[in-house]
Amino acid sequence: MSEERYLTFALGKGRLANKTLELLEQIGITCEEMKDKNSRRLIFVNEELKLKFFLSKGPDVPTYVEYGAADIGVVGKDTIMEENRRVYEVLDLGFGKCRMCVCGPASARELLQHHERIRVASKYPEIAKDYFYNKKHQTVDIIKLNGSVELGPIVGLSDVIVDIVETGSTLKENGLEVLEEICPLSARMIVNQVSMQMETQRIRSLISRLKELCENG
Ligand code: PRP
Repeated sequence: MSEERYLTFALGKGRLANKTLELLEQIGITCEEMKDKNSRRLIFVNEELKLKFFLSKGPDVPTYVEYGAADIGVVGKDTIMEENRRVYEVLDLGFGKCRMCVCGPASARELLQHHERIRVASKYPEIAKDYFYNKKHQTVDIIKLNGSVELGPIVGLSDVIVDIVETGSTLKENGLEVLEEICPLSARMIVNQVSMQMETQRIRSLISRLKELCENG
């Protein structure tokens, strides 16, 4: 019998990766090497289970998975939608729950109802484009920002923003509100399309164990 090959996981750096490792630990998958916070290593191996893990910037996770550099990835639904890579989205892990919304001052509500040509600032230009052009059929100008998007309407760069809302406190503290909800978000597991065929059993077993854990916990 040929030797089992390594399955490689790409995890979005930060809270998402920590939470994913906690979940994996609950189904008996650990990676002790990753627990050393001082380590500058980029890739970690569990020899016994033939698994490898690496951390990357969230938006790069779907790229690694599409090209097969990672078999499996864990990343937010926002990133999956924005990157639009050819990968299978196989499981909602149920954590990191938040919403993608159109937000702005209350006075902007009307601009959304009358299909006016407005300015939309976002870290997620593809999601914003899809929502306004394909779902609302409203022509808008989309301005890409890289963070602190709430500044857009405050400093007069844009009329509204498309951004993630979790607790809503950033909006509230800046005199903004949710005007329309685009979709719910959470952490998802994605799989390379070829890996899914070649390693069906191992990947399916992993998905079903995680699914059971998410449903019962
Ligand atoms: C995210 C998002 C909002 C905020 C929402 O920003 O873009 O700004 O969190 O959270 P809340 O509803 O709980 O206030 P993040 O902290 O990731 O930083 P960024 O603004 O630089 O993108």
